[in-house]
Amino acid sequence: MKFFIDSADIEAIMEFTKSGMVDGVTTNPSIIAKSGRDFKDVIKEICSITSGPVSAEVTATNAEGMIEEGLVLSKIAKNVAIKVPLTWAGLEACKVLSDKEIMINVTLCFSAPQALLAAKAGATFISPFIGRLDDIGEDGMDLIRDIKTIYDNYPKLKTEILAASVRNIEHVKKAALYGADIATLPPQVVSELANHPLTDKGLKAFLDDWNNSGQKIL
Ligand code: E4P
Repeated sequence: MKFFIDSADIEAIMEFTKSGMVDGVTTNPSIIAKSGRDFKDVIKEICSITSGPVSAEVTATNAEGMIEEGLVLSKIAKNVAIKVPLTWAGLEACKVLSDKEIMINVTLCFSAPQALLAAKAGATFISPFIGRLDDIGEDGMDLIRDIKTIYDNYPKLKTEILAASVRNIEHVKKAALYGADIATLPPQVVSELANHPLTDKGLKAFLDDWNNSGQKIL
């Protein structure tokens, strides 16, 4: 499974790139606003760190506006993926822009039929929002499983499932178990992925024994 970083935090993206964990980056208007930086500048900088897809979201609400914004954003770098919302206007923009060989991430997906529409419109990625479904008492992971089953029924659909709104390690584990192609993770969740109390305990015991042995490797 590929990992995208769901953030515009340059330091975090660079840090996780060192261990090969960054296959791409996703942003949204809230993330960009939180960064306090110019949208195009920050997308350009992220694209210079990773060669993987970097999602930049349009903010127009009609198809023409989305297409116009998408064309501008796609010129920032070759690896920009244009993010459009799962509305009819977004689907129309997805079709037009994907026909121009521009990568499209259809976002704010909350149902399997929506995911089917996005795939038919030529989306490169579909972003089902797991955490936000959990927030309203549903099991977001059921959506990943349903989309995976539907897409597998129709091998001509090439859209990749990008598990989004991922809030914890359990979400990452289940997204992988259910066959999501990608999970986009906030830096905090990536950090937590390597943690296990038995790893810490085992390492401490190994190092204590090693130090008592008086040996050195270098
Ligand atoms: C995905 O592309 C979105 O940016 C993100 O995953 C939304 O997550 P949230 O529901 O935690 O805001």
